[in-house]
Amino acid sequence: MLDLYKIARPFMFRMDPEKAHNLTLKALKTGIPAKTKTTNDPALRVTLWDHVFPNPVGLAAGFDKNAEVIGPMLNMGFGFVEAGTVTPKPQHGNPKPRIFRDPKHEAVINRMGFPNEGINHFKDNLEKFLSRKPRPAGIVGLNIGMNKTQTNPVKDYSLLVRQLGPLADYLTINISSPNTPGLRNLQEPDALTDLLGQLLEERTKSCGQNPPPLLLKLAPDLDEKQQGKIAAALLDTPIDGLILTNTTLARPDYLPPDFSAEKGGLSGAPVKDIATAVIRNFHHLTKGRIPIIGLGGISSGDDAYEKIKAGASLVQIYSALVFHGPNVVWEINRVISERLKQDGFTHISEAVGTDAKKTKTKRKKTAHET
Ligand SMILES: Cc1cc2nc3c(=O)[nH]c(=O)nc-3n(C[C@H](O)[C@H](O)[C@H](O)COP(=O)(O)O)c2cc1C
Repeated sequence: MLDLYKIARPFMFRMDPEKAHNLTLKALKTGIPAKTKTTNDPALRVTLWDHVFPNPVGLAAGFDKNAEVIGPMLNMGFGFVEAGTVTPKPQHGNPKPRIFRDPKHEAVINRMGFPNEGINHFKDNLEKFLSRKPRPAGIVGLNIGMNKTQTNPVKDYSLLVRQLGPLADYLTINISSPNTPGLRNLQEPDALTDLLGQLLEERTKSCGQNPPPLLLKLAPDLDEKQQGKIAAALLDTPIDGLILTNTTLARPDYLPPDFSAEKGGLSGAPVKDIATAVIRNFHHLTKGRIPIIGLGGISSGDDAYEKIKAGASLVQIYSALVFHGPNVVWEINRVISERLKQDGFTHISEAVGTDAKKTKTKRKKTAHET
């Protein structure tokens, strides 16, 4: 099959990143085919929250903010797609330019600020997709956030749970984007417990017999003490899962100064190890009881496998799609299959957290010896 990404890449990289993204969405909507090779390795099929994920590689939030290209992205080979972040009211987001690339280091900085068309438009698009027969295989998660002008976050999140809960395979509460002032304060344990309590109640009220799993997406910029407090708070709630991690405010030294100086969240290769450490910590802190979707800088099967061994049951990508194109989805799955076989696992679930366990055993041994 013609690799359109390879042909388009040089043009796209000369364009403003947001324009290139919008052009990609347009092409996908008009049916320009992306690579469609998909994996069917049963060892990669993940059953979680009563859903079957055909493979463990998902599209991260932010790519399809208005739920316009769920079908084409599932056809690209993703096992699941997370649409959003959607807010109740439409909003423009921050002034442009607001996405910056550093191809040499496969890094992106964005300060989008949740531009989106609002819940009504999102819901129309989603319902159109859901009524398609046949529907492409795959799971659809919805990522929700608050409007910039909202002073009472619970109000926005509750409305979104109420309206989107019945349509979602899972819902992600995004309190970790760095570009909405005050949003990350909701990660403070007291604020978090209060927010989750109210949203879990709203879910029970509005979603009847089939409540969607409620997941929480966290930032990588939490120190170990904060992570410990959050994990302890979460273990007291029936939260269903964690998405680790969002973009970082950190700026590794090796990035070019002009690029580093841009305000916003950094993603891609430079966030990889930071995110993996957070996944490993949370897997340990929650004793593996809260399933994790791991992301941050995954651009190869080995990167993905590292996240799985650190404690992720599923993974997601965004930046790698920009730098490597659609083929990366198939390639990541192919390599995970290979690594599972090499390590003697018959199913991906057996590999989850195996590195975290190793670290724990090592620590115990040392304590015993001294
Ligand atoms: C341009 C851009 C927009 C994003 N928008 C959102 C968003 O709306 N909601 C969200 O939860 N994460 C958003 N993210 C973060 C990604 O979902 C992901 O957590 C992060 O980029 C790390 O993964 P990656 O290194 O594979 O890109 C965005 C990332 C980028 C690059």
